[in-house]
Amino acid sequence: MTRNTGRSLADLVTDHGGQLPAPAPAPAGIDRTRESRLLRPDAPRRGRRRKGHGWAPVPAPLAVYRASSAEIGGIFPFVTSNGLPPTGALIGYDALTGGGFYCNPVGWVLDQIVSNPNLIFFGKPGQGKSTAVKLFLLRSMLFGARTLIAGDVKAEYEVLCRAVGVEPISLGLGLTARINPLDLGPLGAGWTALPAAERTSRAALIFARWVVLLKALIGARGVEVSPADEHALATVLADRSGWANGDGRLRTVTIPEIHDALARPTPELAHACRYASQQHMIDETRQATDALGALVRGALAGLFDAETTIDLDWNAPIQSLSLKRLTDLGDEAIGVALACTNSWARAMTDLRQPGQITIVVRDEVWRQMRLGIGAVQSLDADLRLSRNDGEVQLVVAHKPSDLLSVGAAGSQEVAIARDMMALCDTKVMFAQDPGIAEELSELVGLGDIARDWVSGWARQRVGRAVWRVGDRLCKVTTVRTASEEELTYTNTALVATS
Ligand SMILES: Nc1ncnc2c1ncn2[C@@H]1O[C@H](COP(=O)(O)OP(=O)(O)OP(=O)(O)O)[C@@H](O)[C@H]1O
Ligand SMILES: [Mg+2]
Repeated sequence: MTRNTGRSLADLVTDHGGQLPAPAPAPAGIDRTRESRLLRPDAPRRGRRRKGHGWAPVPAPLAVYRASSAEIGGIFPFVTSNGLPPTGALIGYDALTGGGFYCNPVGWVLDQIVSNPNLIFFGKPGQGKSTAVKLFLLRSMLFGARTLIAGDVKAEYEVLCRAVGVEPISLGLGLTARINPLDLGPLGAGWTALPAAERTSRAALIFARWVVLLKALIGARGVEVSPADEHALATVLADRSGWANGDGRLRTVTIPEIHDALARPTPELAHACRYASQQHMIDETRQATDALGALVRGALAGLFDAETTIDLDWNAPIQSLSLKRLTDLGDEAIGVALACTNSWARAMTDLRQPGQITIVVRDEVWRQMRLGIGAVQSLDADLRLSRNDGEVQLVVAHKPSDLLSVGAAGSQEVAIARDMMALCDTKVMFAQDPGIAEELSELVGLGDIARDWVSGWARQRVGRAVWRVGDRLCKVTTVRTASEEELTYTNTALVATS
């Protein structure tokens, strides 16, 4: 036991010839003993060795800082921030820090927080995925971002478009809007005035896009496109568009024209495609031709098989292609329409001003993924390109199996879909049931704590999500303002029927 051998304050003052004033008598009714209990002297490093006095066998290795109460006040209650800069669209608040949460994918790339600006949203139905996407779009518009909704399957983005004064384009049987997915797009603008070298490089981009789309469409009928078929498709496209003539001219083609050329090739075309005869070409490409033919007569009929009749205003803050009128035609028709719309959207965003941020939204992406390898490859290509051209791709899925059920386990489709996760560096995870949260956790590489947030905390309220931005995890609650409520309300049908 240590003995206190030092002098008291009273001794010290007396030694120097002074005297401490006597303490004032306590006013009646005040218990000084209670007060002295409250003002205990400093505790030893391990606390007092008594029950309830915070004793620890090993002292905590704490770094000691001294600061005045004025400085401490600024950092109380000592919670660190998520480290993301407060720039871009304000989404809601971070439940861990209580601070605002801002989404700025392009800024994050520039700050090297993420390596690509793409976002992927997961969450079971009705948890607020589309709402968060709409709020992000709306609030990004303030910074000049433009948006393309590449296939609005539920027509839920129409309200948002109208709110900012844009009339959405509706595609469906009996409607006037037609889209030719093999459109030249803005790359074809002022074609004749372009120098020859520029035309050649643009034509290469256009042909690559056309071939990817045709492969996706043929693959949608379960037909695998062989390298020979691909060569035939590329040759037919070059022939029909006039590019093969070598005079630098290029005209728009349509899918039925390509089908006709494959079904009834001229001797020259068969020769150019390196087949022995016309009949040889017909026999060899029969599967692919028939698949395309079935689409021309079926899912594409009257929608994507003729010249484009609409003109998109690329200066508008948002453009949307509604596909709701197609839902009666089934999932395949919707999937094919999404593939065409995506290809067309790509064409339309080919030539953008440097620094212009475009957000391409693919809500309900699983419908497109189901079309097979071609569709998966085409989405993959879009995601890969975005890093370089300032385009933000925003994909909305329900659960990991949306991506992984695109093919048999171990197949090429599944491998590409898995890789796609890496192409979306920002993952936004709304509520999931525990089993699915486990799957998601494996795919995304969440730890146990974040997995429990997804299956616990997020499920307690609509609009809660775990954002994984590069390596950082944030618990974010999306906040809607009163005026945004009607723009994001998607339960209208439920209310009407109840
Ligand atoms: N942050 C929020 N606060 C309050 N209500 C919200 C919030 N987010 C969404 N909601 C409400 O929840 C409902 C479903 O939202 P939303 O359509 O965004 O879900 P979803 O996840 O996209 O569903 P689905 O998978 O069916 O498309 C909407 O009617 C919306 O009003
Ligand atoms: Mg939705």
